[in-house]
Amino acid sequence: MKFATKAIHVGNEPEEKTGAVIPPIYMTSTYAQEAPAQHKGYDYTRAGNPNFCVAEAQLAALECAQYATVFSSGLGALTAYLSTMKKGDRIIAMDGMYGGTFRLIDKIFNKFGIEFVLVNPSEKEKLASLLKSGPELLLLESPTNPLLDIHDIRYLSKIAKSSGTVTIVDNTFATPYFQNPLALGADIVWHSCTKYLGGHSDIIGGAMMTDDPTTDEALKFARMAVGVNPSPMDIWLLSRSIKTLAVRMEKHQENALAVARFLNDHPLVNEVYYPGLPGTENHEVANKQMSGYSGIVSAEFDLPIEETKKLISSFDLFLLAESLGGVESLVDHPASMTHASIPKDEREKMGLSDGLIRFSVGIEDSEDLISDLARALEKSRHTLCPGGG
Ligand SMILES: Cc1ncc(COP(=O)(O)O)c(C=O)c1O
Repeated sequence: MKFATKAIHVGNEPEEKTGAVIPPIYMTSTYAQEAPAQHKGYDYTRAGNPNFCVAEAQLAALECAQYATVFSSGLGALTAYLSTMKKGDRIIAMDGMYGGTFRLIDKIFNKFGIEFVLVNPSEKEKLASLLKSGPELLLLESPTNPLLDIHDIRYLSKIAKSSGTVTIVDNTFATPYFQNPLALGADIVWHSCTKYLGGHSDIIGGAMMTDDPTTDEALKFARMAVGVNPSPMDIWLLSRSIKTLAVRMEKHQENALAVARFLNDHPLVNEVYYPGLPGTENHEVANKQMSGYSGIVSAEFDLPIEETKKLISSFDLFLLAESLGGVESLVDHPASMTHASIPKDEREKMGLSDGLIRFSVGIEDSEDLISDLARALEKSRHTLCPGGG
């Protein structure tokens, strides 16, 4: 089966009792047992729920993986994995990751003696020698949030594998529609299902996919033991949304490309970050490992901080809000919102300036989106140069 067919059919059998085409929401915390410890495969929803199994079958199929586990959130999923590590273990990660991922390792797991080494991806030799020293985990995000940097997953997971290092790839921005990290050599694919997979800004969820049965068992144990299970309701909504992922991603990408081109030609914009724009190394690496460029565009505006803040609050269709990947367009100011948890000096080293705006381009009509941007930018230009410069 091809992607769009799998997204609709895998995991979806009509319900036995009634023939309902859509599985019911098993909104239950517990399950009746015939005798102590004799049950029908479920005993407590923290450990498992039929709705989790449906979504897990869908997600495994879309990532071409043997196993999937759903969690309470993207960070809940990473917490589960990190809880399997021990004091003295080392994590190598790249500058430019999502701020909440940085905070989880830096502020929580560091305290328990898990070492965290952040590398600038341009320091290729340092990275290769760190990987050769056999750290326990290489954590990659590609494309990164919010600068849309692309890491060479095939190359890095190959070096990691040769020293016994596990590679986890955060595939949230690309989605399995545009990228399958396991096929590129990674060991685990990680998603915030809150974003494109959920797709409607109405759930919080996470997932990890792998081909390794021991890792899968450890993740399911950690979900139950740590308590990072999702709600059956959220996971039912996730299963519903996954069915339209293919059509949504095509439209997100088409609109994002239109927005990136528009911003690229605008005089108030210093730089546009979108892997679909040719002429950059990111574009070349993306073409080697992705089948598309997804729907996030970031742009560095030639505006003072106060004007950037005014601009970001002045769009009509691009709503100012955290998060991304929903059908509606959103804007974010990383320095004061999603990435405020990264200290300012670290942020600046990563290239997250105060003038940077991240656009999560939705699936509205692209002409309406461009008009919204054009109107708001014209207003900013007029404020800066009232004479019309
Ligand atoms: C790339 C990326 N990974 C992980 C996460 C964390 O996901 P969640 O908010 O579902 O915990 C986010 C959240 O914004 C993200 O953007």
